[in-house]
Formats: sequence, C-alpha cells, structure tokens
Amino acid sequence: MASRKLLLLPGDGIGPEAMAEVRKLIAVMNAEMNAGFETDEGLVGGCAYDTHGAAISDADMEKAMAADAVLFGAVGGPKWDAVPYDVRPEAGLLRLRKDMELFANLRPAICYPALAASSSLKPEVVEGLDILILRELTGGVYFGEPKEIIDLGNGQKRGIDTQVYDTFEIERIAGVAFELARTRGNKVCSMEKRNVMKSGVLWNEVVTATHKAKYQDVELTHMLADAGGMQLVRWPKQFDVIVTDNLFGDMLSDVAAMLTGSLGMLPSASLGAPDPKTGKRKALYEPVHGSAPDIAGQGIANPIAMIASFAMCLRYSFNMVAEADRLEAAVSAVLDDGLRTRDIMSDGMTEVGTVAMGDAIVAKFRAA
Ligand code: NAD
Ligand code: IPM
Ligand code: MN
Repeated sequence: MASRKLLLLPGDGIGPEAMAEVRKLIAVMNAEMNAGFETDEGLVGGCAYDTHGAAISDADMEKAMAADAVLFGAVGGPKWDAVPYDVRPEAGLLRLRKDMELFANLRPAICYPALAASSSLKPEVVEGLDILILRELTGGVYFGEPKEIIDLGNGQKRGIDTQVYDTFEIERIAGVAFELARTRGNKVCSMEKRNVMKSGVLWNEVVTATHKAKYQDVELTHMLADAGGMQLVRWPKQFDVIVTDNLFGDMLSDVAAMLTGSLGMLPSASLGAPDPKTGKRKALYEPVHGSAPDIAGQGIANPIAMIASFAMCLRYSFNMVAEADRLEAAVSAVLDDGLRTRDIMSDGMTEVGTVAMGDAIVAKFRAA
C-alpha cells in the first residue's frame, strides 16, 4: 500500500469544524479504498500562539516540510487581535507559504449548477462559470522589505510596506499560468497596475516575454487589476485563467468567491516548484475563507471549501484523479439534492449543519 503523509493543521474558528469533515473522508478512503493516508496533526494560528507563544512552532514547521501535503483549515479571530504582529495567527500561514516556497496559489471559482441562484449576481452571469485565479503567493507587498512602522518624531508615524517582484518570480508564476491554461480553456489574462506601479510594468513585460518565448499557442491578454475586478462581476465567463500578484490575487479571489455563491465554497491549492530529482512538489491545501468568528462554534459553517481543497490535494499531490473527480461529483450531487448550509440557503432547499453536509458528501462519495 502506498504511504501518503498528510499533515492536518485545523487552526482556529471554523477551521477545526471543516477539517473534521475531511477526516471522515480520509478514514473512509483508508478503510475502503486502501488509500494509505498517514495523518499527523499540528497547531497553527491562535491556538498555536496560546500553546507555544508562536503562530506555528518550529516542530510543526518541520512536520509541514516533511509531509507529502498539508491540509490547512483557517486561522485568526478577535481573541488574538491584540497579540504582537510577528506572532499574530496569520503569521503562521505566511510562514508556511514562505518557508515551503509555495509560490503558486490556485483558486478555482466554479459555479455548481445547483447554486446559480445563490450568487448575488444574475444566474445567467454565473451559470457554468469555471475560472481559475492564479495568485503569486510568496512575493509582492506581503513580504517585501522594508515593512515597518517608523516613528517620525513629530507626533507622526509612517507605515511602510514594499511591493517587490524580481524577474524569476514573475516568470515562474507566468509559466504555471500558461501550463494550466493548456489543460483548460487555453486563455490567460494577466492583471497588474502598470499605470501606477513599477512592479506592474515589470510584471507585464515578463509575462509578455514568457508568452512569446514558450507559450504562443495560449491566448494572452492584459488587464489593469481594478478594471479586472469590475470585469469579474460584469461578465466573469470571459476569463479562463487569471494570473496576478499576491495582493491583487487575495482581493480578486474573494470577489470570485461570491460568484460561486459563498466564500464557503472556494478551495485553493498552494504549490511549490517540482523537485528536479523526484518531480514532487511541496503543497498546502486550504479554503479561501477565514476562521469566520461570527459563526464559529455553531455547527453551521459550510465545509465544502475545505472538502474541495482536499479534492485538489488528491488531484495535485497524489495524482488520484478519479478519486478527486468522484469527490467533486459527490459535492455537486449533494447540492443537486437540495442540501444547503446557511450561507448558500435559498427558498425550497433543506438547511443542514456542517456535520450533516459532510456526512451527505461522504455517503455520496462512498456510493459512487
Ligand atoms: P472570513 O472568511 O473568516 O469570513 C467572512 C464572512 O464569510 C463571514 O461572514 C463568515 O461567516 C463567512 N464565511 C466564511 N467562511 C464560511 C464558511 N465556510 N461557511 C459559511 N460562512 C462562511 O473573513 P474575515 O471575517 O474577514 O476574517 C476572520 C479572520 O480570519 C481574520 O482573523 C482573518 O485574518 C482570518 N482569515 C484567515 C484566512 C486563512 O486562514 N486562510 C483567510 C481569510 C481570513
Ligand atoms: C487568504 C487570507 C490570507 C492572505 C491571510 C489570512 C494572511 O486572506 O489566504 O486569502 O491575506 O493571504
Ligand atoms: Mn484572503
């Protein structure tokens, strides 16, 4: 039996509630499909701060580096609003991304047919939507130096963040965008703000050069990121793959989430470069949503983003394509049956909690 090492980092708020539903799938796959998942657990975010005084301990960081894949829930919450910046819950996630060199963040926004009516947009705008936002994840303003608040000494302070991109960082994310486009609709739209940002000028130049050198069979367009946000809600189906920087990708993917009905629907995969010897990539799978403090502990969170993140894990880390397809089909079938968590509830549907939604998906998955 293959051994597949998974590290589970449930985190805070609804993270553990959503992760519990994935644990059921792992158990079923081990017991009934000989999947051979070996799971280990760690702490990240506020719960790690409470235990270790850091948003992730070095020991858990080592486990993440050694795992075949990491499943991540969510971090943060008002309890930790006042903790020092370097150890705030979100710092744990940022350290995982940076230390594991997970530069490519795939955020697919798919509108399941049964949910077209749950979007805040008209059904015809989102029906059949299947786009992929590819967010650069280890560079840009999230990590650029200097990053500080300095005291100007005159009663004023200055907050500084620095947007930095080097050629190789843009080249490698552009390469991933074109490769992914070839497996889907063969179109890439690159978004930046070259009209005001030097890093945007370079981004545009390097994406264009990468396209010219190796990917002329893929259609490439460019859009200013603000206009891109507008186009995402005007007519999102014009896009196939959108490639953009860390901060624009963060914002645009939350916008894209609402096209699919709820933030509770959107999964993501954060991937590193393939190892030149083994071909394996480091990878972390996480929902796009956060710890949702407003609904945590109530048993009503939508586990689908977490479950769909696990489907991405099956697909990208373990090449278990049939199982990934089957899991995604199980999600779709449960929605077709009319089951809804509160965030995607609409007239005539059946409202269920997190556990019942997870159970229904597991049952469909087993029956398929
Ligand atoms: P959030 O994504 O946690 O919540 C935004 C809104 O969406 C809330 O109303 C919430 O109830 C709803 N929502 C989110 N996920 C849901 C789900 N699965 N089911 C049903 N409803 C869901 O964003 P926020 O409120 O801006 O941030 C809360 C905390 O989470 C902050 O500390 C933030 O830094 C953190 N955060 C963490 C991550 C992460 O861990 N990857 C991502 C985003 C935000
Ligand atoms: C996300 C989140 C994170 C980000 C936070 C929690 C650090 O919003 O994954 O989208 O800004 O990248
Ligand atoms: Mn975000």
